[in-house]
Amino acid sequence: MTFIAPAGTPIRLADLFQLIPRPARAPAGDELAQHLAAHAQHSQAWLLSTGRAAMTVLLRAFKARAEGRRTDVIIPAYTCYSVPAAVARAGLRPRLCDIDPRTLSLDLDRLQGMDPDRTLAVVTANLYGVPNALSEIEEWAQRHGVLMLDDAAQALGATYAGRPVGGFGTAGIYSFDKGKNITSLEGGAIVASDPVLCNEIDRVTAALPPPRAGHTLFTAAKLVAYAMLLHPRAYGLVQALPFLGLGRTIYDDSYPIARYSHTLARVARSLYVRLAELTAARRHNAAALREALRDVPDIEPIALLPAAEAAYARLPVLVPPEKRTVILRTLQSAGIGATASYPNALSDVPEVIALIEPQDRDTPGAREVASRIMTLPTHPYTPMDLPARVRQLVFDALRA
Ligand SMILES: Cc1ncc(COP(=O)(O)O)c(C=O)c1O
Repeated sequence: MTFIAPAGTPIRLADLFQLIPRPARAPAGDELAQHLAAHAQHSQAWLLSTGRAAMTVLLRAFKARAEGRRTDVIIPAYTCYSVPAAVARAGLRPRLCDIDPRTLSLDLDRLQGMDPDRTLAVVTANLYGVPNALSEIEEWAQRHGVLMLDDAAQALGATYAGRPVGGFGTAGIYSFDKGKNITSLEGGAIVASDPVLCNEIDRVTAALPPPRAGHTLFTAAKLVAYAMLLHPRAYGLVQALPFLGLGRTIYDDSYPIARYSHTLARVARSLYVRLAELTAARRHNAAALREALRDVPDIEPIALLPAAEAAYARLPVLVPPEKRTVILRTLQSAGIGATASYPNALSDVPEVIALIEPQDRDTPGAREVASRIMTLPTHPYTPMDLPARVRQLVFDALRA
């Protein structure tokens, strides 16, 4: 049976050829970093082993820039569990700000009410490639002398008010993990401009270990398998292998922090060149799904803020909580990679509860999202008839 992967980036033979070593004018990583810095309208970019490694290095540099005077980092109460893990790994304290369940952006009223005096930084989420209220968050951060980390791990290619997501605030990060806008299965980047901060990131990254050759070779082999298996004709096989742990969300703060491989950077660079085409395909597929679901009762696509152009790594929709299991099961049984995304608000994740203050557990918006969200595939391998099939299957599941 065919199975449409929940997210992914088709990798062509020409991209895989990039894995073969060859003489070059400049290391591919340098070129990719230049592309990303220009993309984010920042002056510099650094490549790291993962997005969470990038976030940890950046937060440590924020901490050094503030000379340890401020220790709190405001993060959205519904985001990837790697975010609080990176804050803790940087020796800082996460504070949770609730989100608006309609848009997934930080709830601006809640943000206004947070104490900025101990706050080092505020972090965005831009989940599924849907931009948060970035100008408004940037304005709040500037007004209070708080640094802003624009987390574009899932949003390379999205824009807000005509500016690139990842380019707001003090600095941003991107990720090249497997479900992201472009992928080499792992990798991440920091983008920044502030000279003091850039010096600090330079200092820290120069001391990081290079990627291990054996690890790069193994990842390159997995990338070849990924390129072959992402197609719906093959993905059923991947789906049937539970030991791969796909889609599982765990809190882990013990990841390596290393530099990114130049070999993998050649593939990421090759995909970056096609970013506009990939984003256009995802936007088109997301629009068709939204249109197909328009009059399905109780199904609400996450609203786009007026200034936002999403990159749609996936299409997020809210469904009735009591029907979510049956909707997911119906879609998955029909070979459609619908997911429930992160299972909990961060305020209900035991490892995070141990780090936060009791008042930060009041996050009804994040809890509503955790119980209602469903994501649908938008990647270029999704077939033309997906929207009509999803519409019919969701109707069937709601009637069941
Ligand atoms: C919003 C967000 N931030 C940060 C990360 C960390 O990126 P990585 O998986 O490359 O470590 C992720 C990864 O899924 C993410 O979704």
